Amino acid sequence: MCGIVGYVGGRGAQKILVDGLQRLEYRGYDSAGIVTLGGGATLLREKGKVVELEKLVSEHETPDKIGIGHTRWATHGEPSQQNAHPHQAGDIYLVHNGIIENYKELKQELPDHEFTSDTDSEVLAALIDSFYDNETSLESAVTQALQLVEGTYGIAVLSTREDDKIVVARSGSPLIIGVGQDETIIASDASALVGHTTNAIYLNDGEIAVCKAGSVELTDLASHPLSAKVEKIEADMSAIQKQGYDHFLLKEIMEQPITLQSTLNGRVIKAEARAQLGGLNMSAEELQEIEHVVIIGCGTAYYAGMLASYYLEQLVDGLTVDVEIASEMRYRSFHLPKDTVALVVSQSGETADTLACLREVKARGVKTLGVINAVGSTIAREVDGGVYVHAGPEISVASTKAFTSQVAAMTIFAIQLAQAKGAGAQELGKYIDELAAMPDEIQKVLEAHKDQIRDVATKYAHYEHALFLGRDTLFPVALEGALKLKEISYIHAEGYAGGELKHGPLALVDDRFFEVMLLQENALLDKSLSNLAEMNARGGHVIAITNSDRQIDAEAVIHIDTKQELLVPIVLNVVQQLFAYYVAVARGNDVDQPRNLAKSVTVE
Ligand code: F6R
Repeated sequence: MCGIVGYVGGRGAQKILVDGLQRLEYRGYDSAGIVTLGGGATLLREKGKVVELEKLVSEHETPDKIGIGHTRWATHGEPSQQNAHPHQAGDIYLVHNGIIENYKELKQELPDHEFTSDTDSEVLAALIDSFYDNETSLESAVTQALQLVEGTYGIAVLSTREDDKIVVARSGSPLIIGVGQDETIIASDASALVGHTTNAIYLNDGEIAVCKAGSVELTDLASHPLSAKVEKIEADMSAIQKQGYDHFLLKEIMEQPITLQSTLNGRVIKAEARAQLGGLNMSAEELQEIEHVVIIGCGTAYYAGMLASYYLEQLVDGLTVDVEIASEMRYRSFHLPKDTVALVVSQSGETADTLACLREVKARGVKTLGVINAVGSTIAREVDGGVYVHAGPEISVASTKAFTSQVAAMTIFAIQLAQAKGAGAQELGKYIDELAAMPDEIQKVLEAHKDQIRDVATKYAHYEHALFLGRDTLFPVALEGALKLKEISYIHAEGYAGGELKHGPLALVDDRFFEVMLLQENALLDKSLSNLAEMNARGGHVIAITNSDRQIDAEAVIHIDTKQELLVPIVLNVVQQLFAYYVAVARGNDVDQPRNLAKSVTVE
């Protein structure tokens, strides 16, 4: 949430900052601002999207070579120019991600500063300024201020008095320092560094860095020098561009055959009927001992975990599996049985609740494995082992390709666990074959059904309510389908287990609702068809999404021809993604940046 970018070097800072903010815009888009220094400060802030800021910058161009910028997702104070970052206090300019929890108390101690915004961030700027006298360096003032702060922050700070450096610090909100040739670029997300440098320092909590054109000096909060580890970032420009698609969301749905293949590469070895993940840091003996798996995530990552839990139960005899919402679990007095392993699932690897939950689980001595997309992210760095799903940057706020890759990665984990516990190739072969075939199957479905899904979606786009129903492995898919629809179309949508229909939601069925019924050719199909009949009998408007060849009596039927059997829910979910996309397009919504939301939820 919120994006930070900073630049110091030999090139014009304004353009680099605005370009960077555009790439980070998916992290927050209610206002944006930059400040650059060059014999004085040029502070430019605007309400709305980065494109509005870009217009303002074009009217106030400067050749300045140092600056910081921010795109905001409001926490304290409405979206407005006054509340936009950077915030100024004396000679100090600051951009901030996170929440300063004790800002009200700190504000009372700063009577000399005239506050112009409602933000907690301006309080931090004023606090730094209160320590910044003529004898004090910027980094020293920042360090002293941070000792008093409670909450989370990723900050970048400039001073007109020391206009060759940017001071950055982090506690709980990510910051990456790109080390280029005689230039340094700061960003809250690696995508802003792509095209500038592939060398990066990932700041850890409690670290402060003084960034100049040709150097980065790292210390802890007690000013002890630290050595910086420079790592390679791997992403190319094409991964963060729309490449001819109207929206990132459509691109990310359509590229799933490729991104899923990256998840599977080297991990699903069909010829040997075997699957393995490289980075678990667990021996076969340790895997054998696992008796319980807890899967932790938020939103779509949680639903991916829920779907994978069915596969874990199916594949590993005797294993017990729980799936937990991170924001709930982290505050519970939970107990985990001996021989538990925790799978921590997150696309961004930065979700505040998931990270906090990971720390709670670790504190109980439980082994943690990450199922993460963003390479180098905080959760990926804090888990004991795990797997990168390699879906590539997900720019659209709604998560799509990450879900598919997360489920696939956890299914591989399930196979590996089953192998370690002695399951033979015969028992596992079908899962392995279906995983290996999945990219082609998804490709086939996207090609064959895109137009039909668009037509059905357009027809139902005027409804205001929707009910998604599925049984067994299709229950988490129903929940995910409802989430996807509500977040980008703003249609009120609920997901339910098919068997629950008569226990309440059937009362909702009327002309204001449409219902999405997920139907899989398996032992529960007849039961689901009964649910469908019950809705038809009450005037329901049912869209059936199915791989079954049976005659299905529904208002609309999207019939998918696929060889998948066990893993068909993953394919049906792709259909739902496209459905939600086209509904949102038909309603004229901002598909990639839905209102009120932002990617990477780094605050609670
Ligand atoms: C839904 C969506 C969110 C995220 C959730 C977790 O489309 O994007 O529900 O899935 O905020 O995010 P990560 O996976 O980054 O931890």
